[in-house]
Amino acid sequence: TEPLRVALAGLGTVGGGVIRLLDANRDLITRRAGREIEVVAVSARDRTKDRGFDATRFAWVDDTSALANHQGADVVVELIGGSDGPALTLARATLGAGKGFVTANKAMLAHHGLELARAAEAAGVPLKFEAAVAGGIPVVKGLREGAAANEIARVYGILNGTCNFILSKMEMPDEKGRARDFADVLAEAQALGYAEADPTFDIDGIDAAHKLSLLASLAFGTTPAFDDVDAHGIRQVIAADIAEAAALGYKVRLVGVAEAGAHGLFQRVHPHLVPIDHPLAHVTGSLNAVVAEGNFVGRLFFQGAGAGDGPTASAVVADLIDIARGEFGPAFAMPADSLDVASKADSGER
Ligand code: HSE
Repeated sequence: TEPLRVALAGLGTVGGGVIRLLDANRDLITRRAGREIEVVAVSARDRTKDRGFDATRFAWVDDTSALANHQGADVVVELIGGSDGPALTLARATLGAGKGFVTANKAMLAHHGLELARAAEAAGVPLKFEAAVAGGIPVVKGLREGAAANEIARVYGILNGTCNFILSKMEMPDEKGRARDFADVLAEAQALGYAEADPTFDIDGIDAAHKLSLLASLAFGTTPAFDDVDAHGIRQVIAADIAEAAALGYKVRLVGVAEAGAHGLFQRVHPHLVPIDHPLAHVTGSLNAVVAEGNFVGRLFFQGAGAGDGPTASAVVADLIDIARGEFGPAFAMPADSLDVASKADSGER
């Protein structure tokens, strides 16, 4: 059988992780995919950077959007990020050329998910984005497929590893007994590769809102409606808040909630007081967690690494394995036609 040939845009934290994962687990991936998954071309900023593998074995393409028409590539993987610009140009060109598209780009899907889902559907090709929501946690699959038979009442969770890392660290005093400084902890999260290129997206709840809009779309079959998410971040949270919450038996967590209410879909991201006996209170460090409540399955709890090279690459390669097997459904829970139903959030309660 022919390999699945992949063109890869972006060799940063996640792109590098994808290559290292494909190299390390090559045999089992080939077995499970039923054929080899072979990266044939890449586009990235720096050709000479040491990434822990030999990047000269790939064909290098300077113009990222040219990957869409790269001879011999069956599918394009986009790991450059940004809601518009080169990522969107590449997505449109790839789907327009009738090739499958895999992305970790939550910002782009939150803004252009409907358009891209329609383009994929029209071309009959996959558009997959497991890595875009909660990194390595298979929550897109979990909601779209695992909970497919359920009416979902509510989906909520900790969707930003950087904020959770900062809040967790702020719970712990430094060696002098003082609460750790916000900027200092943020710098640590950036060094670990968790933070967005623009960390205000993390801190102000925008990244969590991007992911929440995708989760809501999957759970409720609505158009991703990022503009309807009421997003607040953790800038205003100070160490004293965390200490007082702890004294009362709560943890402070940045939680995104999407709920089907009497007046429509309600989507909100803000710092929550989470009771210490709730599973979300035990999600520490850069971990993410998602809770979904279905009318037959009950309460589902997904937890795992929401950022970082290995976990995010794991989700990207899982999507490639599905494509290699020819197993892929519509991008979101419903065919794009159904997504055309005006977002329930139009009449959302606030
Ligand atoms: N900046 C994101 C986070 C990375 O901190 O969770 C994963 O989307």
